Amino acid sequence: MSDFATVLAAYETRAADDLQRMRQVPFEQMLSFREEMLLPVGPEAGAFLDHLARGLKAKRILELGTSYGYSTLWLANAAAAIGAKVFTVDIAKHKQDYARSQLEQAGLAKSVEFVCGDALAMIDEIDGPFDLVLLDLWKEAYVPALEKLAPKLAPGGTIVADNILFPEEVRDVAALYRKRVREMPEMSTVLLPIGQGLEVSRWRA
Ligand SMILES: C[S@@+](CC[C@H](N)C(=O)[O-])C[C@H]1O[C@@H](n2cnc3c(N)ncnc32)[C@H](O)[C@@H]1O
Repeated sequence: MSDFATVLAAYETRAADDLQRMRQVPFEQMLSFREEMLLPVGPEAGAFLDHLARGLKAKRILELGTSYGYSTLWLANAAAAIGAKVFTVDIAKHKQDYARSQLEQAGLAKSVEFVCGDALAMIDEIDGPFDLVLLDLWKEAYVPALEKLAPKLAPGGTIVADNILFPEEVRDVAALYRKRVREMPEMSTVLLPIGQGLEVSRWRA
């Protein structure tokens, strides 16, 4: 077994290689090999999620978009420290299998429940209330996911939505999410220029 820092370092190496490959082609071409990419939230957003989970004293954390487990590692590290549980959802089983093996290596798998399937269906299957949600699906799913998530938030529960500013190619779709979440009177929202842009929305109820 290795530790959090060792597993994180291996992810960062793979992320740097991915980035180099992605930079060589236009965005539309990258979509053809998107499934092979980690597409991680990155270290600044990872650390922010860790701070937030601890500050909220979260008990139930929901992650929509496990991918290969980069953000899951950060969330699980915080969860293990505060006695929380991370429920992480992705439609791609092979990605979750990889994520599970990395979390096991880091000694953090006990804090995580992996749920494989369409997030829009799985939100109904996982019991709330959620203290913290990371929303990091393909961006078209953000608004429908928000509609299902809002009633399942704990008072003070917080949704962090990634990729609000970058990549630029998804900014228009992300803007639809920003508009919808800011229309919700129970939500207090702020955009943070951390990583690829995080829309952070707190349920006031
Ligand atoms: C940007 S990646 C997530 C990156 C991850 N949070 C990280 O930081 O490493 C988006 C992931 O969402 C998954 N996804 C997209 N739409 C989905 C849906 N409707 N249901 C479940 N998973 C979905 C994709 O398979 C992909 O792995």
